[in-house]
Amino acid sequence: MAFTIKVNGSTHSVDVDGDTPLLWVLRDVLGMTGTKFGCGMALCGACTVHVDGNPTRSCITSIDSIGDSQIATIEAIGATAAGAKIQKAWVDREVPQCGYCQSGQIMSAAALLAGNPHPTDADITDAMSGNICRCGTYIRIREAIKQAAAA
Ligand code: FES
Ligand code: FES
Repeated sequence: MAFTIKVNGSTHSVDVDGDTPLLWVLRDVLGMTGTKFGCGMALCGACTVHVDGNPTRSCITSIDSIGDSQIATIEAIGATAAGAKIQKAWVDREVPQCGYCQSGQIMSAAALLAGNPHPTDADITDAMSGNICRCGTYIRIREAIKQAAAA
C-alpha cells in the first residue's frame, strides 16, 4: 500500500504494508540508518524519532498511524535550535562511547529542550528514563543537557 510521509521537511512516497514499523521504513526504504534498532518493543529508546515534535519509539509506530504528521530524525536534528545545542554539547562533553544508543538519546534530549529550555534534574530524569545506554554514559548525558540548556 502506498503512503506519503513527511520526513525532515521532505515528502516521500513509500509502498509498504500498513503495519510496517516506521523504523523499518526509515532505515530500509528511505536509507536513513541513523535511527537504530535495539529491542523492537519500546523498551530501550534507540529508535527514537520525533513525530510532530514528540519523542516517539519508531519500532512500534506503524506507518499507517503517521498520517500528515511531521517526522524528524537524527539526520536533521542539527537544523533545529535545540538540536544544534544538544549536538554541540554532546561533542564538547564527549558523551558517546560505542554510540549505538546515542541517536535516540539525542532525539529525546532535543525534544526535552525544545519544550522545556531550562529543565530541572527531575525533568531530565523523566525525559531520558526511557533511553537505555549499555555503556553507562548517563552522567555525561545529564551534563551535556545542562550545558545545552545554559548555552
Ligand atoms: S528499538 Fe524501539 S525502543 Fe528499543
Ligand atoms: S554509548 Fe554505547 S550503548 Fe550508549
